[in-house]
Amino acid sequence: SDIASLGNLSGKRVLVRSDLNVPLDGTTITDDGRIRASVPTITQLSDAGARVVVTAHLGRPGGSPDPRYSLEPVARRLSELLGRPVVFASDTVGASASEAVAGLEDGGIALLENVRFNDGETSKDDAVRGAFADQLAQLADAFVSDGFGVVHRKQASVYDVALRLPSAMGGLVAAEVDVLRRLTEHPERPYVVVLGGSKVSDKLGVIDNLIDKADKLLIGGGMVFTFLKAQGHEVGKSLLEADQLDTCTRYLAEAADRGVEILLPTDVVVDTAFPSGDRAPEPRVVPASEIPSDALGLDIGPDSAAAFAAALSDARTVFWNGPMGVFEVEAFADGTRAVAEALTKVDGLSVVGGGDSAAAVRQLGFDEAAFGHISTGGGASLEFLEGKELPGIAVLERD
Ligand code: 3PG
Repeated sequence: SDIASLGNLSGKRVLVRSDLNVPLDGTTITDDGRIRASVPTITQLSDAGARVVVTAHLGRPGGSPDPRYSLEPVARRLSELLGRPVVFASDTVGASASEAVAGLEDGGIALLENVRFNDGETSKDDAVRGAFADQLAQLADAFVSDGFGVVHRKQASVYDVALRLPSAMGGLVAAEVDVLRRLTEHPERPYVVVLGGSKVSDKLGVIDNLIDKADKLLIGGGMVFTFLKAQGHEVGKSLLEADQLDTCTRYLAEAADRGVEILLPTDVVVDTAFPSGDRAPEPRVVPASEIPSDALGLDIGPDSAAAFAAALSDARTVFWNGPMGVFEVEAFADGTRAVAEALTKVDGLSVVGGGDSAAAVRQLGFDEAAFGHISTGGGASLEFLEGKELPGIAVLERD
């Protein structure tokens, strides 16, 4: 059910769960993509005359207040992007929150302090979570779920509160679900999936579910070295998940059985140390089968980048999750840049999923509009593509 199902919202208090979990350097927001993505629903509710109470988390503070994870800098940025005042409450369900909500005029907006400063939010105990959800629910007359990045979490502000108030799906969650369903149900072919990022173990579910749906699977990023090792290559000091070697071998065999083409890089950019501190990077391109023992792979090489781009050129559906290398360092950003560039040229649906790849696209200066869809969800978009039921969606779609 969408926001219209809530009826006339004028004068009503509406609790909105947004995902405002943005990367911070101290108190400086380094990528405000998720805040931007939250603006349309908040504006829509404010325009409808609702008294908008936004709740969100930042990081994983562990159930008690921790100033490093305060949403105060986010409140300021949200206000700038909305072009409207945002009252910041210094707690989530305490005196400051009640006061902020009571003081709202029709169309006014408040942001509550980090919901994860309360141990009830993430508790595994239904009763503890429920008690906290009761307190949240007292602040509002209706609930709008708009934080797609957290719909895979069975948490009080995502799940339990929806059981306690008339609830609706915000436009951001609806749009995300719509696009991701197109990737899992009848995707147009050729369907190419590009996976990167550091860990194979984070991507097992997606590979399992997509290995018989996709036509091609392109693998880069830190996770590729476990695949290369599984093929019998030495990977030097590169990232390696020894306990996933058998799984990688099984995927390679399964893909071959099902006629799914798996592309691994044939060359990689290496350095002798992970880039850090003042030392300038010393990138070197080597064949993927000849990584020196004192080197570690930090990006896919230029031949591989060209091969990946070619594999994407005739795709009609693409899902990309995870950078190809350490894109934050310019010397190791070319592989990620090449994949992003290739996605912008796709004639069909191109979806960038995952916090890191979305941040990469913006950081490398690409125009977001050049992509079919940039998901605000990291874990949530992966779990969606794994075919798992997401508690925050299921609770809204229950009869
Ligand atoms: C994310 O960053 O993917 C979401 O905000 C969820 O955060 P979490 O993994 O800490 O629940």
